[in-house]
Formats: sequence, C-alpha cells, structure tokens
Amino acid sequence: MSSSEYSKLIYSKQIIRSPNNFKIYKNKDMSDSENNLTTSNSQILYDQSTTIKLSKIVVIGAGYVGLSNAILLAQAHLNTQVMLFDIDQIKINQLQQNQSPLQDSEICDYLANRQLNLQASSQTQIDGQGIYEKSDLVIIATPTNYDVASGQFDTSSVEASISAVRAQNSQVPIVIKSTIPIGFTDSMRQQFDTQILFMPEFLREGQALYDNLHPSRIIVGATESQQVLAQALMRLYQQASESKDAPTLMMPPTEAEAVKLFANSYLATRIAFFNELDSFAEKHQLNSQAIITGVGLDPRIGQHYNNPSFGYGGYCLPKDTQQLQANYAGIPANLIHAVVDANNTRKRFIARQIIDKNPSQVGIYRLSMKKDADNFRDSAVLDVIQTLKQHGMSITIYEPALVEDTFEGCQVINDLQQFKQSNDLIVANRWHTELEDVSDKVYSRDVFGYS
Ligand SMILES: NC(=O)c1ccc[n+]([C@@H]2O[C@H](COP(=O)([O-])OP(=O)(O)OC[C@H]3O[C@@H](n4cnc5c(N)ncnc54)[C@H](O)[C@@H]3O)[C@@H](O)[C@H]2O)c1
Repeated sequence: MSSSEYSKLIYSKQIIRSPNNFKIYKNKDMSDSENNLTTSNSQILYDQSTTIKLSKIVVIGAGYVGLSNAILLAQAHLNTQVMLFDIDQIKINQLQQNQSPLQDSEICDYLANRQLNLQASSQTQIDGQGIYEKSDLVIIATPTNYDVASGQFDTSSVEASISAVRAQNSQVPIVIKSTIPIGFTDSMRQQFDTQILFMPEFLREGQALYDNLHPSRIIVGATESQQVLAQALMRLYQQASESKDAPTLMMPPTEAEAVKLFANSYLATRIAFFNELDSFAEKHQLNSQAIITGVGLDPRIGQHYNNPSFGYGGYCLPKDTQQLQANYAGIPANLIHAVVDANNTRKRFIARQIIDKNPSQVGIYRLSMKKDADNFRDSAVLDVIQTLKQHGMSITIYEPALVEDTFEGCQVINDLQQFKQSNDLIVANRWHTELEDVSDKVYSRDVFGYS
C-alpha cells in the first residue's frame, strides 16, 4: 500500500473535504489508537516499516516566532531536543540564563519554571559542530522585512538559512515559519529540493507562546508527495499544544502562504474600517463607541477587534498587506491598496486632529501599539510623531522601554509625573488608568479602553 493510500485509510473518517490536496483533520482523531499509530516521542509510524522521526529539531531565529516555537516543541513530554540558533549574541546570552529577551509572560514562565529540552546557541558556538547534519527537522523563523525598493519582502535571511542547512544536510525537512511572498516555497523547492514546507504562523506578539499552546489552527503547506511528513508535523504540533481541538489543515504551500497574507490583510482591513468609522464620528462629534457597538451587534460583524486606534502597525500588518499588494500584480483589484491608503490617511487624520488643538507642548504616552507592551516596531504613533515634527511641534515621549534620553529627536521623559506636568496635551494610542489624574489633557481614540 502506498503511503498516501495508507494515510487516506487512517484519516478517512476525519476528512471533511478533500479537493486538490486540501484536508481538514480533527485533532482528537490524530491519536486514535484503533489506527495503530505510535503517538509518543514525536515518532510517527506511517506504515509497518518506516518511521519519520522528528526528535532533533533546530530552530533558526530566536524572535517571537522562533522562540515560541522552540519552547513549544521543547516541552519535556515530547521527548525532543531543540536547538535554538540566532545571530544575536545578546539574545542567546539571555536565553542561556533562562531569561526571555521578549516581554511575554508564558515565555518567561516556561523558561524559568518548566522542564524544557532546549539549548540556545549563537553562530560562534555552532560553527563546525554540524548541528544541521544531526537534525531531523529544521524550522526557519528569520525576518522577512518589507523592502521598499523592490516592493516585496526581503527573503534573504530565509534563503541564507536554507543554504546553510543544505550545506550540511541534503535530506532534513525544512519548515519555513517566516511569512513569505505567495509562491516562495515553490521557488525554493525548485532552487533547492522538495523537502521544504511552509507552516504559517498566527501568533500575536506579547502572547506568542500562549497562541502556540492554544493555536487557532495548525496549517501545513505541503505537496501531495509530502503528505506523510505533513501528518508527522501536524501530530507534533498537536501533541505540543494544550488545546486538543485546534482545526488542522493540510494544503499546498502556495495556498498556505496565501492564507497567511490574506488573514493579516483581513485584520488590517477590519482595523482600517473601524478607524475610518471613528474618523467620521470624531469629525461629526458623534459617539464612536455607540456606533461601533450598534454595528457590531449584528452577529455577522461581532463585538471584537473593533477598538479604534491611530492606525494598524507592528511588525506584520504593514508589511504583509504591502506584500499581498505586490502579489496582486497584473490582477485587477482595489481593496488591499485601499486598506494601505486608508491606514496612511488615518495616521495623517490623527496628526491633524492633534495639530488643530494647537498645543504648545505635546507628550506622547507610550510608543507601543498595545497596552502594557514594550515593543513598538512600526507602531502607528511613530508616523504621527513624524507628521507633528514636520509641523514644528515640540514633543516629549514617555516610554519606559526606552533607555535613551532622546528618541527621533524628541526628549524622553520617563518620570511619569514630570511628563504629565511638562505637556499640555497628552497623546495616548491606548488609555491607561495611570492617566486618570490628567484625563482632561489626554487625546486618545481608545473608545473601549476608557473605564
Ligand atoms: N512577530 C509576529 O507577530 C509574527 C507573527 C507571524 C509571523 N511572523 C513572521 O515570522 C518571521 C519572524 O518574525 P519575528 O517577529 O519572530 O522576528 P524577530 O525580529 O522578532 O526575530 C527574528 C530573529 O531572527 C534572527 N536572525 C536574523 N537573521 C538570522 C540568520 N540569518 N540566522 C539566524 N538568526 C537570524 C534575529 O537576530 C532575530 O532574533 C517574519 O517573517 C515575520 O513576518 C511574525
């Protein structure tokens, strides 16, 4: 019996729909004992004689994606050994002392208190050790920043990682977890070999490990010929997760890449929609919260992910929408372009509202996108600050995550009382109760955040 016939037999009860290499698996059935599957030690029996072993795992890139995946897969009950590799020596030093380089409560807890089979290493520590040679699985989670010149993601760190792995090991399966352009995995399969897969990552920063322990879905982008490996990966991720009912999908890599970019573009669209609603409400002095609540009570719309902000930002939504726009080349379409434009318009609108208040001294309360977060990569308020500066406004910043005295030419005041006293207008993307005593000075569109 061929492996694909065998897997169809195994999963025939669980397949909900199966056109063109698209399958949905129900998690609980993946460990069904009547199927005679070995489910322990991350070893997956797929026929009587062959075993796919996914025990020795290397994760490349110790950021939000790489670190959370490494911890997820290093949990003791999986009997795996995970090596986490990064070029950033400072991050590796922290990890070697079981300290998290990221603000994430689950990551901090797991590093400090849980039994993990996890080792963190930098380039110099792995040189000459042949870590890929001895591995069963390599996961790539390096950055794919948007490159303005080419209008596409810069995928060079992913490509360099694949080359480095293949220089040592021509066989080991490589899973790309970084977000990549649609069609990238296929091009890597043509350039290198067919042992390359894509698994989109859906975590939220600040809850990176939590989201991996409780995944909304597990998607493996694999070709028909990679089915057996794909199932081994599905099972590994299911065994690693705490939620036993996460929908698990297999589809071709290109479709999986599209899922990631369209999912983030939908989130960006939703944010842009409620922000544009809020611009209308603010300009007409209407109660934005009332309108959004009334709109959202339609169950098709819902009361979630609807809180206005200064614009979407962060590492993913700005770059993923722009990459999807690039993937649309030659296809008549307007929406994604309009969403990118709408977000820029929103940031300019917010800046204009601030300028029109004519403050003598503007205080920016936090640079982070989310309440109590320390990460402000591509945060929308950074663009608002640029526009305010172009209008010659005097700006100070309160951001405890900054150790510098100045940021982008603005003075940083991390004494909150002094910051409050120094400014006649305080701009807060997200409201915080510590602003209550100066609420009459605060400008925010966090309509659901006010208590
Ligand atoms: N952050 C998110 O919320 C999120 C969610 C889903 C997907 N993604 C995608 O996952 C990828 C990684 O994102 P992230 O947020 O974890 O990035 P990050 O910037 O937090 O971490 C990336 C890490 O990779 C390291 N690195 C860079 N080049 C390397 C190389 N050649 N070899 C080894 N390490 C290298 C960096 O030092 C850094 O520690 C991106 O493609 C991103 O779009 C991110």
